[in-house]
Amino acid sequence: MNIKELITKKRDRKALSSQEIGQLVKLVCDPEVPDYQISALLMAIFLNGMDDMEIASLTKNMAYSGEVLDFSNEPGPILDKHSTGGVGDKTSLILVPLLNELGLKIAKLSGKGLGHTGGTLDKLSVFDGFRIDLSKNEIQRQVGKIGMAITGQTEFLVPADKRIYTLRDLTCTIESIPLIASSIMSKKIACGAGHILLDVKVGSGAMFSDLEHASMLARQMVSIGTALNVPTRAVLTDMSVPLGSCIGNALEVKEAIEILKGEGDLRLRTLCFELAARAFQMVNENIEYQEIDYQINRAINSGNALNKLKVLVEAQGGNSEYIYHPERLPLALHQSSVAAPNSGYISRLDARKIGMVSMLSGAGRVKKEDILDLGAGVILEANFGQYVRTGDPLASIFASSQSKLAEAADVLQSAFEISQQAPGDLPLILKEY
Ligand code: URA
Repeated sequence: MNIKELITKKRDRKALSSQEIGQLVKLVCDPEVPDYQISALLMAIFLNGMDDMEIASLTKNMAYSGEVLDFSNEPGPILDKHSTGGVGDKTSLILVPLLNELGLKIAKLSGKGLGHTGGTLDKLSVFDGFRIDLSKNEIQRQVGKIGMAITGQTEFLVPADKRIYTLRDLTCTIESIPLIASSIMSKKIACGAGHILLDVKVGSGAMFSDLEHASMLARQMVSIGTALNVPTRAVLTDMSVPLGSCIGNALEVKEAIEILKGEGDLRLRTLCFELAARAFQMVNENIEYQEIDYQINRAINSGNALNKLKVLVEAQGGNSEYIYHPERLPLALHQSSVAAPNSGYISRLDARKIGMVSMLSGAGRVKKEDILDLGAGVILEANFGQYVRTGDPLASIFASSQSKLAEAADVLQSAFEISQQAPGDLPLILKEY
């Protein structure tokens, strides 16, 4: 089947056979096939969906579109943790060194920012020189040596995801269960993960704002992992408000460093520790929660988890000076703040809008070729549920031009709602599979 026949079949709501999906993934990896035809196919999948067999086949074919890591000679299980993406979600920067200090090995393939959500690879690019294009041998060697690696898709590792991921961002085909599930799980399979922990975000800043769709995505990914005999666990967590108080690449690195020092935003810290506990439990089944809690606190309080971030950054060629000197991290020159128009409780703090503000400030890509401004972004001066008085600062935006600042500031005020009644608590963990 050629690409036009595949597009037509999907457009007409017909299921593709495994053989046709194999052909589809080959065409995705063929640079002679133009972006517009791959994009049309993605839109047809976005609109008409895929059945379970198609999703499983797409995932496998994407995983094997390049090389697959082999950790069979590596003692101990290899774990991978992945978030479906959110606003202010810097959990991977915290969890990889923390879990490594707890004795776990992690080989992780991450992505760049998608839409209004940030990407781990963009955040890591703050450490000048940090390589996100490690080869199969380099990843295996690094995991053997220091027990962790975070890198990106390349033309050798999940090349199908590399192309699809970029095109989805440009063609408004991000929020699709088959496309998200295959993107994430193909990377986990290609990485040779022995255990997979998924953080599926739910809320306005996530891929899906409702629990029903997020649950469908979680179940789909867990069933792909289970079918491949890889223990897979999914935790659905709130993303109706941003995670932490910093959004933007260097700003998020700074906040991640705070958490690794045992400081910083309580909600973000709690989520990281809850996810770390679950990951630890996946590979140490009989361990008591109290013991995990003790080990996590020891890893943080000793400073060893923070030092592991330094080890990771240096192993991948990055400049690690910021880790012990976060005050030197880049910060965009122009700043503007938004103040509370009246007194009351912050009853809504729209994560999607804050993600848009961060993107407009220069921290995310509006177009594929945009170069990120690593020092741009947003600092929330007040958070959800907090009482503010008229004129109190709500948030500050950082951008490297007045025009970007003005564009971002226009959206910022509308992200906040202030009311006279205190809002109820926002549960952090909504469901688990
Ligand atoms: N993370 C990924 O790797 N892929 C997606 O589609 C969404 C989040």
